[in-house]
Amino acid sequence: MEIKFSIRRHDPMDRENPGPYYREYVVEAAEGMTVLDALLKISEEEDPTLAFRRSCRSAICGSCAMTVNGFARLTCNLQVIPEYEKMGAMKIEPLANHRTVKDLVVDMAPFWEKMEKVAPFLMPAGGSETNQVTIEDQARIDESQRCIMCGCCNAECNSLEIDERFIAPAASAKAWRFAGDVREGHQAKRLERLSEEHGIWDCVRCLHCTQYCPKDVKPLKQIESLRSAAMKAGVLDNPGAKHVEAMADSVERFGRLDEGRHDLQDTGFLRSLGMIPLG
Ligand code: SF4
Ligand code: SF4
Ligand code: FES
Repeated sequence: MEIKFSIRRHDPMDRENPGPYYREYVVEAAEGMTVLDALLKISEEEDPTLAFRRSCRSAICGSCAMTVNGFARLTCNLQVIPEYEKMGAMKIEPLANHRTVKDLVVDMAPFWEKMEKVAPFLMPAGGSETNQVTIEDQARIDESQRCIMCGCCNAECNSLEIDERFIAPAASAKAWRFAGDVREGHQAKRLERLSEEHGIWDCVRCLHCTQYCPKDVKPLKQIESLRSAAMKAGVLDNPGAKHVEAMADSVERFGRLDEGRHDLQDTGFLRSLGMIPLG
């Protein structure tokens, strides 16, 4: 079956034709061929200048993530024919919310910087009892351990799209991997840092991260675990926690959410005045 691929090309180093522009390639797609197989075929047989990343070809290294027909996908576990039959097109672009380096290759430096910020390693408290991990303890952080660092969740994150300083879903899920570990000795400090500006409370719960994660890490669920743990640990002096408290207070007192009132409560009277134009 012949399938037309429309691929976004962009080379900032090319002075004559940097793009971006879309170039079309026709690929003879066989049963079982993945989108990555098709890109390799194009690069090997037709256009060696096409740039893209890949390594394992088995959905475990996370390097082949791209935007396929508008959504972030791992191209090595996405089959061409079913995707084409479902979407009626084959449009390949680099991951959204990331700067393009060349063609389908994006700059992952901000992704790794955010990961580094959440200290992705265990800092045990010490003492023999803290080394005991039950099956239930393990189950709480299991999903957050599945991440292969592909960046699909960050590419689809609505909060990250409007504010690149947001810690974003991938690093947040990784943060729960350690903050939620019973052996962790610095949980309170971690939760305080994550509750600061541009941290976990900037998530708008759109669910895209969970919808597009190829490994079912469920980043939003991990963010909710972090928020809940932060509030239980008494990390309350931030707009997110205040908002939650004001909502609970409103329901408790009036049986419903009073938007105007709880905005005043968590933003304060003077700051609320500044929000009049937004209103
Ligand atoms: S649920 Fe939150 S973290 Fe996930 S994509 Fe939406 S805004 Fe981003
Ligand atoms: S959480 Fe999922 S989508 Fe996000 S980087 Fe990890 S594996 Fe990829
Ligand atoms: S090439 Fe490794 S995840 Fe696709």
